[in-house]
Amino acid sequence: MPENKFRKHIVCIGAGYVGGPTMAMIAARCPNYEVTVVDINPARIADWQTDNLPIYEPGLLELVRQSLGRNLFFSTDINANIRKADIIFVSVNTPTKTYGEGAGKAADLQYWEKTARNILEVSESNKIIIEKSTLPVRTAHAMERILNANDKGLHFEVLSNPEFLAEGSAVADLENPDRVLVGSRETESGLRARQEVVEIYANWVAPECIITSNLWSAELSKLVANAFLAQRISSINSISALCEQTEASVREVALAIGTDSRIGAKFLNASVGFGGSCFKKDILNLVYICEHYGLNEVARYWESVVMMNEYQQQRFITTMIKVMFNTVADKRIVLLGFAFKANTSDTRESPAIFVSRKLLSEHARLVITDPKALDNARTDLSDCADRIEFCEDPYVASKKAHALAVMTEWNQYKELDYERIFEQMEKPAFIFDGRDILDHEKLFNIGFNVFTIGKPPLKHF
Ligand code: NAD
Ligand code: UGA
Repeated sequence: MPENKFRKHIVCIGAGYVGGPTMAMIAARCPNYEVTVVDINPARIADWQTDNLPIYEPGLLELVRQSLGRNLFFSTDINANIRKADIIFVSVNTPTKTYGEGAGKAADLQYWEKTARNILEVSESNKIIIEKSTLPVRTAHAMERILNANDKGLHFEVLSNPEFLAEGSAVADLENPDRVLVGSRETESGLRARQEVVEIYANWVAPECIITSNLWSAELSKLVANAFLAQRISSINSISALCEQTEASVREVALAIGTDSRIGAKFLNASVGFGGSCFKKDILNLVYICEHYGLNEVARYWESVVMMNEYQQQRFITTMIKVMFNTVADKRIVLLGFAFKANTSDTRESPAIFVSRKLLSEHARLVITDPKALDNARTDLSDCADRIEFCEDPYVASKKAHALAVMTEWNQYKELDYERIFEQMEKPAFIFDGRDILDHEKLFNIGFNVFTIGKPPLKHF
């Protein structure tokens, strides 16, 4: 296949949850672009080229297979691919800083800065550099300064094109996004680069869904979108606590308020708390930026979204211990689900991690089951794995159990044979539904004592 067969060479640095699926979609929809995803992690790069992808995401394997070896490639040769690229997406991880200035809140930009320096070192031609990672507002300014302080006479145009996909629905979100956001400098070269990026997405996204803006608005909009989404969950979770005290049902309240089109129906599912790699880190990043600009009231406002999430997780475990006669010591407790949401193997910041550690500290005998996330669960809890049973089969897991706790809203947990499960459990048998997904009346009639987030309890004592 001759090299000039392709109109442009796109390279993505970072083959993770965002880089992999996003580039697979671009490759599938833009056969005249060559798309190469590179990473420092050779195992990840190898796995992307097998049937055993490094992440579980519905529809992803089929999407990757469409283009793999045609115009989609995965490689560990970062330098050669940077050299060849016209357009570079940077999709490396930007976790919360754990050390030094801003520890616990600010974004750790070391991976991101290393890629900038790497690009600068090996490039031999002008390039468009796209921030795909979620970054603090005004990061592009720093990136421009690093990249354009070169004596090679090269020009790097830095753009922001944040990603809004959600895990578990990544392929559908990429296929049919609410919007694509492209932010650039509003200079002649900035606008030209903006148009090049818009042209990629225009291969499958309707023009009215492609929004353009200045660089800073694009960077900030990503943090604000996540903050608003998480704020809705914390808002409904705060109301769930009140529902449990007043015999209101949070699901009914959510339906009643969500039908107001100004409020909207989505993201009003009360839960044991939001998890995932981004909400907490991005809000804390927003808090840090506000503090940096002396906007302390604004910082406290957004910080309370994270505090409410911590309260919700703690409340779940407090209820468990209280209703199980103030002790879970030596009781067999089964977590149904460990992933931070359904349809993913990702467990980053999953509330199940917090709940597991609390149960272990109360000397419970912990059993964890999950259809896709058991390997990640083992890694997350590797320091105490010898005290945990990891079990594929929820029926085996629930044998002689004292309690079940739904941590993830996997569909299969709605369809389990709870009569069979009840028969083999210790009595009184408890269910704690952290996702409000089960048929609680039915479970109560089987004999369970049922405790659900945002609902009055159904108990036989
Ligand atoms: P990830 O950890 O799954 O993937 C990041 C990858 O970058 C890793 O495979 C790592 O090995 C690689 N990497 C790090 N430094 C590198 C370097 N110098 N050179 C080459 N590769 C390098 O992270 P992710 O979940 O894909 O998130 C990436 C970014 O996208 C983050 O900023 C995140 O906030 C943002 N984001 C994530 C999601 C999501 O759903 N996960 C959605 C939208 C935005
Ligand atoms: C979220 C955003 O939805 C994406 O738009 C964004 O791109 C992404 O973060 C990111 O920047 O990483 P994600 O974390 O993958 O996506 O998943 P969500 O569907 O947002 O769920 C996050 C958490 O909130 C999960 O634990 C989920 O169970 C919980 N949640 C969600 C609720 O508790 N209630 C709801 O109503 C919705």
